Amino acid sequence: MDFPLIRMRRLRRSEPMRALVRETRLHPGALIAPLFICPGEGVRRAISSMPGIFNLSIDEAIQDATEAAKLGIGGFLLFGLPATKDEQASGAWDQNGIVQQALRAMKRERALDSTLLIADVCLCEYMSHGHCGIVRETANGAHEIENDSSVELIARTAASLARAGADIVAPSDMMDGRVAAIRDALDVDELTDTPILSYASKFASAFYGPFREAADSAPQFGDRRSYQMDGANRREAMREIELDLSEGADMILMKPAMPYLDIIRDARDRFDVPLGAYQVSGEYSMLRAAIERGWLDRDRAILESLVSIRRAGADFIVTYFAQTAAKLL
Ligand code: PBG
Repeated sequence: MDFPLIRMRRLRRSEPMRALVRETRLHPGALIAPLFICPGEGVRRAISSMPGIFNLSIDEAIQDATEAAKLGIGGFLLFGLPATKDEQASGAWDQNGIVQQALRAMKRERALDSTLLIADVCLCEYMSHGHCGIVRETANGAHEIENDSSVELIARTAASLARAGADIVAPSDMMDGRVAAIRDALDVDELTDTPILSYASKFASAFYGPFREAADSAPQFGDRRSYQMDGANRREAMREIELDLSEGADMILMKPAMPYLDIIRDARDRFDVPLGAYQVSGEYSMLRAAIERGWLDRDRAILESLVSIRRAGADFIVTYFAQTAAKLL
């Protein structure tokens, strides 16, 4: 059968018709909004490279989260900006760390009962040098990011965040063996029911640029290419996921999203675990910039970018557009 018997346009004639045959849907419950928590009270500090996104003190974060929860958003991904940083990332695993305090405060809010609090687990925001692990100077004066000693601190951080109330812990550091170490640390602490959402496939990306202002976590020297993946590698991403799952990851997070949609599709076809994707800061800022100039239609561009990520195979999306998109849905 062929034209004129078949006319594909028959099913595109009206919005109800298009809605009936729509293959991919977005819903607020599958959107996760990042939150950048900073010390103080009444603080709402704009991030210049991410218009519309703020560093928020705990009280302000609770206000924003409550509003977002009313929209039916699935959850929040918490990042912390500690008052001080050092070379052991003490603020990351301190039981009184900024995110630990935020988690305890948010868990007391009944209005947030319907949403998940996901704690990003990394050391970079808490390290004076901004790297995701412990730095050692080598004999010739170069710097090396140590794996195993970093994993110890990362596991300690995850357990501390879970104790403070995180519903899910999400390691984003890309050290080897961290998922097993985190599972172990959680289980020893009788946190056997806390799931691990592993940023299993995380590429070294220029698209994290704006985040580093938002989280004040730019590396002071070198870059992250000795631990995050090379953007050219598809097969390696599958190996990373396989390893994290074998170490006990319950879910995986793919990152960035738009420049890596093929990797999301590969992962979806290969692994039957819940899979999220992170529409990262650079993806957000790029769209925002074009929207502000009037070069892109705001609502359509935002929703199309999110549908593309769902269509590639992501079950849920971490996105700075979560609130805006939820209002449109
Ligand atoms: C921490 C971390 C980063 C992001 C999430 N967790 C920064 C990085 O790896 O440099 C980036 C998120 C974004 O760009 O929105 N390791």
